[in-house]
Amino acid sequence: MSEEPILLEVEGLGKVFAAGNALNRRPVHAVADVSFRIARGRVTVIVGESGSGKSTVARLIARLIEPTAGVVRFQGEAYVAKVRRRELSRLRRRVQMIFQDPFGSLNPHHSVGYHLVRPLKNYGKARAGAGVRGRVLQALEAVGLTPGEDYIDKYPHELSGGQRQRVVIARALIVEPLLLLADEPTSMLDVSIRMGILNLMRQLRRDRGLSFLFITHDLASARYVGDDLLVMYAGQLVEGGPADDVVERPAHPYTRLLLSAVPDVVHNPFASDRAPTGEPPNLAQLPTGCHFHPRCPQVMEVCKRVAPRRVELGGGHFAACHLNDMDYAARQDGTIAQEAGNGASRRKG
Ligand SMILES: Nc1ncnc2c1ncn2[C@@H]1O[C@H](COP(=O)(O)OP(=O)(O)OP(=O)(O)O)[C@@H](O)[C@H]1O
Ligand SMILES: [Mg+2]
Repeated sequence: MSEEPILLEVEGLGKVFAAGNALNRRPVHAVADVSFRIARGRVTVIVGESGSGKSTVARLIARLIEPTAGVVRFQGEAYVAKVRRRELSRLRRRVQMIFQDPFGSLNPHHSVGYHLVRPLKNYGKARAGAGVRGRVLQALEAVGLTPGEDYIDKYPHELSGGQRQRVVIARALIVEPLLLLADEPTSMLDVSIRMGILNLMRQLRRDRGLSFLFITHDLASARYVGDDLLVMYAGQLVEGGPADDVVERPAHPYTRLLLSAVPDVVHNPFASDRAPTGEPPNLAQLPTGCHFHPRCPQVMEVCKRVAPRRVELGGGHFAACHLNDMDYAARQDGTIAQEAGNGASRRKG
């Protein structure tokens, strides 16, 4: 996807939650076999409907929860099973997470300055006195809260939503991470303010070489900031690659449905007034074969029985859909027909 060194590598990542009660345990397959890479200084966007597992992927990478399968490698270091405390602290400093609700993530009883000094102390980066204040002011100014002096003693309720989200970003930046996991950082902001935060992300990427994993429902934002795009459906990556390529040549019917719901008639040849119809599946009772088949406008018989493979389409673009893999689909279909035939003759004999 790019020539920059790989910062984050996710391989076969999976998370099964145990839902239900003690008598009726139901495994929820929130994330299954997710693999992708993020290079230094790239913005990778995950899009997908609510409940598709986007936040779970971010939380697995930040190790807020333990994966049930797969490996996360950060700068080549693998985080597999239980990670030791010291390793975790190292990871958390380099990978910072920003959440959706800028109010919820700030403590109303503490000043902006307090929120920014704390991570410095937590990660043992606080040096005495003026140095700390200087770094806080620098971080505030880096996110456009200038002059920092005007903001450092303010309390969260004295700030607008956009300013609060900037404080949250400053708090993440102050420990000098390499990757920011931004989970719907703009979805609770007004459209006008949203643009400011998206531009800030672009600027941080350009000026500091920061990498982002940006999670959003909004394909328009995804196109605006994303270098690479990953499309998630029911816990799996169904398509991904360079953002322009995926948007201009979507290879998966689900991606085409998502794009058709973007109200951009000029730039989006797939635009229509059709929103994706149907409901995402119950993750405790996933459909057989391709999980998208019950909603797919191009469903074939094989889709109901055989899970599609991930197929490379060139230039880092991939999709997991039989339509891009017809030989395999035909072979699988043949195998199934044959097996059914064998089964029938065995039963007869
Ligand atoms: N701790 C948990 N226990 C059980 N199920 C969970 C847990 N956390 C998440 N899930 C389930 O995992 C699935 C994926 O959730 P996730 O929050 O990752 O989706 P999402 O794509 O971020 O959705 P949204 O766009 O609404 O934020 C959902 O079905 C959710 O109910
Ligand atoms: Mg989420």
